[in-house]
Amino acid sequence: MRLIRAKDTHDAGRKAANIISAQVILKPDSVLGLATGSSPLGIYQQLIRWCGRGDVDFSQTRTVNLDEYVGLGPENENSYHSFMHRNLFSQINIDPANVHIPNGLEPDADKECRRYDALIRGLGGVDIQLLGLGNNAHIGFNEPADCFVKGTHRVDLSQSTIDANSRFFADASQVPRQAYTMGMLDIVQAERVVMIVTGAHKAQAVHDAFCGPVTPMVPASILQLHRNFILVADEDALSLSPELA
Ligand code: F6R
Repeated sequence: MRLIRAKDTHDAGRKAANIISAQVILKPDSVLGLATGSSPLGIYQQLIRWCGRGDVDFSQTRTVNLDEYVGLGPENENSYHSFMHRNLFSQINIDPANVHIPNGLEPDADKECRRYDALIRGLGGVDIQLLGLGNNAHIGFNEPADCFVKGTHRVDLSQSTIDANSRFFADASQVPRQAYTMGMLDIVQAERVVMIVTGAHKAQAVHDAFCGPVTPMVPASILQLHRNFILVADEDALSLSPELA
């Protein structure tokens, strides 16, 4: 595991964006595994800026997103389809045909999960997977559990995740209770994994994930075993983990 320290959220976003853009410059048809939520927003803003200046070209790049809420379609402003379109895809020169996100409207979970895993395999796997970190140390929507689930699956969201994500909805009752998420094998098979974590509210999760044992009760802890894992974190997020220095 490699740690890249950042001063603050802005600095972390720029540092992580540099890693993603270097990947695309070196391999223009890279498969990028992408995340939603607050954490990647600074990265996406940088990539949009650099793309606008012609410094990075996404015309051949393929993407697979980590997750989508069950029951929300692309036209719903809270869906992750909508989030990605608004915050990245509509502002870079990516081919919409190369963009992939689980289909939250597919009622047959087995069918959707098989489709998504086959799609990732068909793309040749993920070159670089971008992750945020849940307050409960989830990655994608792989919630704390008794075992790691390998492939894409439909998951019941934990109360902690529903509470954390209610800030994007009118109130907590509007947050979908289930999501489709890539599984842990999908994530750890990525050639490289980059996680961005900022803020004191994530400090405990960082400590649990990277200073403690590897356990499915702390899903991100599995990244300790990844050969090419980079943690980009600001001082606040690292405040409870002096041993990572
Ligand atoms: C989002 C995702 C989640 C988030 C995590 C952190 O696609 O998979 O694991 O990365 O919940 O969310 P933020 O960044 O909003 O704190």
